[in-house]
Amino acid sequence: MTQLLDNKVCIITGGAGPRGIGKATARLFHQHGATVVIADLDEEKSREAAAEIAAERTMGVACDVTDKASCETAVKAVMERYGRVDVLINNAGITQPLKTLEISPENYEQVTDVSLRGMLYMSQSVLPHMAEQRGGAIVNTSSVSAQRGGGIFGGPHYSAAKAGMLGLAKAMAREYGQYNIRINSVTPGLIQTDITGGKLTDEMKTQILTGIPLNRLGDAQDVAKGFLFLASDLSSYTTGAVLDINGGMHMY
Ligand SMILES: NC(=O)c1ccc[n+]([C@@H]2O[C@H](COP(=O)([O-])OP(=O)(O)OC[C@H]3O[C@@H](n4cnc5c(N)ncnc54)[C@H](O)[C@@H]3O)[C@@H](O)[C@H]2O)c1
Repeated sequence: MTQLLDNKVCIITGGAGPRGIGKATARLFHQHGATVVIADLDEEKSREAAAEIAAERTMGVACDVTDKASCETAVKAVMERYGRVDVLINNAGITQPLKTLEISPENYEQVTDVSLRGMLYMSQSVLPHMAEQRGGAIVNTSSVSAQRGGGIFGGPHYSAAKAGMLGLAKAMAREYGQYNIRINSVTPGLIQTDITGGKLTDEMKTQILTGIPLNRLGDAQDVAKGFLFLASDLSSYTTGAVLDINGGMHMY
């Protein structure tokens, strides 16, 4: 198999979820020759997730993306061990199924902090290293929720955070193109992971499928493949772009 990410050091935030998009991405990247770093809230879980993928070319670090010092410490540990960072996947995220009037200040901060502030802090932590290397790729997990105004589980604050990520990505792409750093986003539709907390009933699934031309929910590997494209040289002339991975649920 072609090794699309040979010798690349790739950090994946929110990569410890056992059925998550981040873990599937780490696994696929590893298969393509990458050294993968799983950066999630809990150090033990990050290490376990990394070790489950492989003993070699994997690392697990604790990282709370809402905390700038935590992001810097995690990236420092990667630099000390591997001496470079080539790819950052900003994938950490949480959701809350709330309506507009139910969103408290705390809810707003929790959701926007992980997706949007976290994306900024992690990007700020890796960009100086990528600029010095004169190359790198950042890919961000936004959501169809950003585009259609609500997904299935995310409240309006989730849509806002995920839409904010698209704007931040484009602005950073404009600024960092001169360093050969490409910054893109994916907008997944409904992907079967643990983020929905078991609240997706069979009845809901059947109803949702009527709006999906490919007639199935997505799985984490579907999104991982999009990340592989945007992280590797396959997308060498693509920056500031948004890749829909939604089975046709939302089209332009
Ligand atoms: N599953 C879907 O349908 C879907 C659709 C569109 C977008 N997304 C996005 O995909 C991403 C991955 O979600 P998933 O579905 O794989 O769920 P998941 O719950 O498996 O993964 C989310 C991960 O983020 C981690 N995390 C939460 N807060 C964090 C923080 N402050 N710092 C570091 N890590 C933190 C969690 O520990 C978890 O491992 C999220 O950004 C989510 O919003 C998911």
